[in-house]
Amino acid sequence: MRFVVTAGPTREHLDPVRFLSNPSTGKMGFAVARAAARAGHAVTLIAGPVALRTPQRRPHRGRPTIAGDIRRVDVVSAREMLAAVEAALVAAKDDPQGVALVMTAAVADWRPATCAMTKLKKHAMSGVLKLVRNPDVLKTIRGKVRAWKRKPVLVGFAAETGEPTAEAARKCREKGLAMVVANDVTQPGAGFGVDTNRVTFVLADGIVEPLPLMTKDAVARRIVKKCQTFGGGGGI
Ligand code: PMT
Repeated sequence: MRFVVTAGPTREHLDPVRFLSNPSTGKMGFAVARAAARAGHAVTLIAGPVALRTPQRRPHRGRPTIAGDIRRVDVVSAREMLAAVEAALVAAKDDPQGVALVMTAAVADWRPATCAMTKLKKHAMSGVLKLVRNPDVLKTIRGKVRAWKRKPVLVGFAAETGEPTAEAARKCREKGLAMVVANDVTQPGAGFGVDTNRVTFVLADGIVEPLPLMTKDAVARRIVKKCQTFGGGGGI
């Protein structure tokens, strides 16, 4: 099976030195890429601006710790991320074992209406920033793959502040996903920046599976396993 995994934030620039963004570090997405590669899958990791190194094939007691290949594509904005995801899915489309897109990235919903080529002068700024909507990557991709004979498995995340399950179920329906991984980013040990997460799997058929607090690597292994089930690829 092939995995396309997005990680980290996007940055939406208003000039070369100023941007709108969020605190995503890419840890959750890199953990999914690592888990998929360790399970033997080929992975395209599409990363927003993050400070993480790409998981490498490293020999461990004579065996490589990562079995599949990880190809990394770095992007900055939501529109670049959409283009990279689309290209990766088209390239992976004919894999006989299927393709999974796991969108852990915290994609900015809005961007400044204009981006200046040179640094804006303080005195030339009005204090009001006009924003326009970014494309929704998952919704756009779902529209594009509708006509494909074998559709990719689409998995989203939901970063919520408060009870995340109802909102995740709505996102699952609206975006036509196989599963949404919901996390309450206000909970200790969950969400942005930390090495652990407390998530709930919300499936398209309405089943809700809450998981205890665990490392992001352990969450990632569960996600990869689920994708294999959806994609018909069996267990790890
Ligand atoms: O990177 P870390 O520091 O490890 O933090 C991990 C995390 C908190 C970023 C991760 O666990 C998480 O919750 N990621 C999703 C964040 C988010 O943007 O959630 P959302 O509810 O706004 O979006 C719902 C889904 O739609 C997400 O899969 C998102 O990737 C996708 N989306 C959002 C906006 C957009 N324009 N296009 C999208 O496809």
